Amino acid sequence: MNWFTRLLSSTLGRKLLMALTGLFLILFLVVHLIGNLQLLKSDEGQAFNVYAKFMTSNPVIMVISYVNYTFILIHIVWAILLTRRNKSARGSEGYAVTKNSSPWTSRNMGILGTLIFIFLIIHLRGFWAQMHWGGIPVKIYDGVEVKDLYAVVDLAYSTWWYVAVYVVSMAVLAFHLWHGFSSAFQTLGLNHAKYNSLIKFVGQTFAIIVPALFALIPIWMFLD
Ligand code: HEM
Repeated sequence: MNWFTRLLSSTLGRKLLMALTGLFLILFLVVHLIGNLQLLKSDEGQAFNVYAKFMTSNPVIMVISYVNYTFILIHIVWAILLTRRNKSARGSEGYAVTKNSSPWTSRNMGILGTLIFIFLIIHLRGFWAQMHWGGIPVKIYDGVEVKDLYAVVDLAYSTWWYVAVYVVSMAVLAFHLWHGFSSAFQTLGLNHAKYNSLIKFVGQTFAIIVPALFALIPIWMFLD
């Protein structure tokens, strides 16, 4: 085994991988949110549809997308491996549990993560799979044919229970991020007494604002 495979099979290596992939996914959430907020424009979906076309056809973004899928899978698989290892070690080495983190969220990261995974399956099946393989109607903007993904999202968010699934899932995401954000910095050793409270504050603000804005989209479109 070289140093790299030794690091990845150690508990520390696995925690590092969770932290790094987690921070990448946090970055993805910000970009995804900025793109999705275009759904709220009163332009019958034009800005959002043009953005979705760019995101699914630009070669650089496509490579980043594959990195994203890989990181999501690594984050999930390593979470399972860490949980199993921690269980067999009878809790002697918990996953990034710190004294100043919220006890409930830190103890339930696995359950919260599983619920987010279920949300992701529903979400990707409803929108992403439709965009890639579904028979979506098209619109023409400036002579260019663009899939009307806005219509798919608008239709989905006209059903109250679908909106409810999204709102509840965003609450779950908020709890997951509440612990995950500062925990990732802790694991990466980026915790200094001077900055700890700032990191915690930024993390907890992020954990509330980002899921709240995500949840606002289906609520807004349902009521519109
Ligand atoms: C109201 C909230 C959300 C809306 C309206 C939304 C909308 C969409 C749409 C329309 C797509 C397909 C676009 C495409 O294929 O380019 C998509 C893809 C995706 N969404 Fe969301 N999303 C929301 C929240 C979330 C959240 C909270 C997560 C993660 C926890 C997430 C993760 C993903 C992923 C991983 C993809 C695939 C991205 C890719 O192909 O690179 N989404 N979303």
